[in-house]
Amino acid sequence: MRVGVLTGGGDCPGLNAVIRAVVRRGVTEYGYEFVGFRDGWRGPLEGLTVELGIPQVRGILPRGGTILGSSRTNPAKIDGGFARIEENLKALGVDALVAIGGEDTLGVATALHDHGVHVVGVPKTIDNDLNATDYTFGFDTAVTIATEAIDRLHTTAESHHRILICEVMGRHAGWIALHSGMAGGANVILIPEVRFSLDEIAAWVESRFRATYAPIIVIAEGAMPVDGDLITKDATLDAFGHVKLSGIGEWLAKQLEQRTGKEARTTVLGHIQRGGTPTAFDRVLATRFGLNAITAVKDGDWGKMVALRGTDIVRVPLRDATGELKTVPIARYEEARSFFG
Ligand code: F6P
Repeated sequence: MRVGVLTGGGDCPGLNAVIRAVVRRGVTEYGYEFVGFRDGWRGPLEGLTVELGIPQVRGILPRGGTILGSSRTNPAKIDGGFARIEENLKALGVDALVAIGGEDTLGVATALHDHGVHVVGVPKTIDNDLNATDYTFGFDTAVTIATEAIDRLHTTAESHHRILICEVMGRHAGWIALHSGMAGGANVILIPEVRFSLDEIAAWVESRFRATYAPIIVIAEGAMPVDGDLITKDATLDAFGHVKLSGIGEWLAKQLEQRTGKEARTTVLGHIQRGGTPTAFDRVLATRFGLNAITAVKDGDWGKMVALRGTDIVRVPLRDATGELKTVPIARYEEARSFFG
């Protein structure tokens, strides 16, 4: 059996741990050969491959990023895209594909499965917004990085009696903001699922200053005011039609300065949340996903995605993972609100 492996979408700490586990078990236990595809779906689309075997995966467990490269190439947007992938897989003698990615990458995997391609998916995203799995790897690392940043912002905010805003990633789902805000003791957490009122935030900020502390606000990049739309610096779209986010934190700082008369500054964590070495939790989760994904290949269980349920790794239909996003339930946000202001 010759198995292709690719990583698509935004990179994420733990991708290399998955690749290593897939290859290690595949070669040593099942005697498989591997083909690494470069840069997400661009690899099988253009026949861009790299050698992938035990020597290539040595030492990569703690390394961030992906040794295969990634991209947001969308074969659905390219004329004859799916047919070209099928032809290239055939020409390269690839019998099955392990696709590691988020909503978009796994959406393409679902469509290819419908075309008869043998594919197994592995859920990846720092945003933790994929349905059908309790957690995606990369999320714990992103939350750990954001929490450390919030801890650091507390001390400088208090020294200067400033409002400090920390903008984190999260397009449709505020999981990173919710978890890092709660872990970091933020005074306000704003997420895409719940529209915010500037008057309410200003009141929380003022109450925080009265208590002689400086307020820390954690805001997800996709959060929106009650009476407005998505606020961004750049309106261009990526290949999956997503607008490039970031800008809401700066906007909020200006609004709060006008309303409270206090100085407000914004820190945008951006890609720092996605870079560098994964936490131990993410290394273990990614490794278990990789081991179980290659076993799904051995079982010929096509069109499935490996998922975490409690402490078990299970297989679910790819379609269940990509049909609807997993957003923050209102009850979870209400828990966090007990600490606002
Ligand atoms: O992986 C998803 C994500 O982290 C989103 O939260 C964010 O909007 C997006 O990636 C940004 O990715 P890029 O800058 O690579 O387009």
